[in-house]
Amino acid sequence: MNYEIILATNNKGKVKEVRDVLAPHGIIVYGLSDLNLDIDFIEGDGSYLENAAIKAKEVSKYTSYPILADDSGLEIEALDNRPGVHSSRYMKECGSNIKAMEQILSDLEGSKNRKAKFICTMCLYNVEDKPLYFTGEIEGEIAGEIHNGENGFGYDPIFLVKEKGMTFSELSEEEKNKISHRARALTKVLTYLRINGLISK
Ligand code: IMP
Repeated sequence: MNYEIILATNNKGKVKEVRDVLAPHGIIVYGLSDLNLDIDFIEGDGSYLENAAIKAKEVSKYTSYPILADDSGLEIEALDNRPGVHSSRYMKECGSNIKAMEQILSDLEGSKNRKAKFICTMCLYNVEDKPLYFTGEIEGEIAGEIHNGENGFGYDPIFLVKEKGMTFSELSEEEKNKISHRARALTKVLTYLRINGLISK
């Protein structure tokens, strides 16, 4: 039997990524647009966990199905971990993902420390009587320039995965989905669902 879940996002790139990771486990993922919902989430200034919970609770006003809400961000060590929890807002303030990446590259000019990491916290809601949280991370570096690959979204073109020698945007979708912060958080969600007998694969 299939397990159905609502992903609390309007971002089609995220829906595709999560769908690709969960489909082999018999999980059907619906994005908000599949439910004709268009929610403008008001994120707080706190943590990824707090923002994921805000998104899950908002969507729970419309459905009693299991909900998965994620909040993610890019933390750059030399920039005091900015844009971090404000990654999405920062992109909007800059005007586009390209402009945000150009600004980051300019802020990092001359800096030897290029260390960065993507973090993703997922909130699973409407499953137990309390929200459940799962976090995944991937460490990398900020590239010297924008690498426009075939795939990816957001900050992918500047996030260099050292062991692959490529940015997220240059990796195939399959490769990104094996190692990304979101995939790592989703692996923990899958373990929880399996242990609790909600999925079998
Ligand atoms: P939110 O989690 O929807 O609030 O988005 C966080 C921000 O980080 C967005 O602007 C995304 O574009 C960016 N982001 C999150 N995950 C990724 C990723 O895997 N690649 C590139 N950018 C990402």
